[in-house]
Amino acid sequence: MHTINNNIYIYQNGDKKNKSILFIHGFPYDHNMWQMQVEDLKSRFHCITYDIRGLGSSPAGDGQFTMESFVDDVEFLIDELELDQPVLCGLSMGGYIAFRCMERMQEKFGGLIICDSKPEADNNEAKLRRASGIKTINTQGVQKFVGDFIPNCFTQSSINNINIPYKEILERSMKFDPSGVKGCLIAMLSRTDTSSFLSNIKIPSLIICGEDDKLTPPDVMKLTAEKISSSEFVIVPKAGHMTPIENPQFVNKVINNFLVKYFTGK
Ligand code: MLT
Repeated sequence: MHTINNNIYIYQNGDKKNKSILFIHGFPYDHNMWQMQVEDLKSRFHCITYDIRGLGSSPAGDGQFTMESFVDDVEFLIDELELDQPVLCGLSMGGYIAFRCMERMQEKFGGLIICDSKPEADNNEAKLRRASGIKTINTQGVQKFVGDFIPNCFTQSSINNINIPYKEILERSMKFDPSGVKGCLIAMLSRTDTSSFLSNIKIPSLIICGEDDKLTPPDVMKLTAEKISSSEFVIVPKAGHMTPIENPQFVNKVINNFLVKYFTGK
């Protein structure tokens, strides 16, 4: 069941009396990315997913987004849904949002789960790649951009594995509003670097990385985890950048163990 609040599509599963987990999906995906985690956790935890503005069902509006405006949306959700120190779980772009949430308002969260992400801002090369992505959307459409981008996020063996709805994911993202996808690219290329804050993160944290993640490789994520004294680092076998989809059984187990260790799971 979803509600629409402030033009954001919000999906809640599980009993509100249980510990809340607020999931932030990656780019260019939507809340469906977390489907297998929500299915697994909803009997013990209050699971909230939402579509980032401009992606999925949440309308793009004028498409003028910043990482800061995405963090404003997280703050809005916490206040609006009256969440009591939820565990924040973000993948990749969702992780960029989550790291900035820590810097801005760590006290509002009980725990942090980062999947396949990094605190560093885009370097020049990455900024130019984003600019080229915007050009592709303008000249050849969002379908072409998504068709080029998404295969890099998965391992070839995940793509070939019929048990994961890869084709469905691709087709869904190809229908996203071009203004929303471009707005997210601009928000990512203009985001700040949050790495100097890592040593100030004091809440229980779990850092997860796919063993074959080409975008945020394990050696890079391990360095990030080492800077967060309250963190555990886990490598996910048989997965690239999209760990929750590529190896859901493993990721669910790791997330569940983390949540049970630090929070009450009914
Ligand atoms: C994501 O999965 O959210 C993206 O790969 C992030 C990015 O493009 O930097």
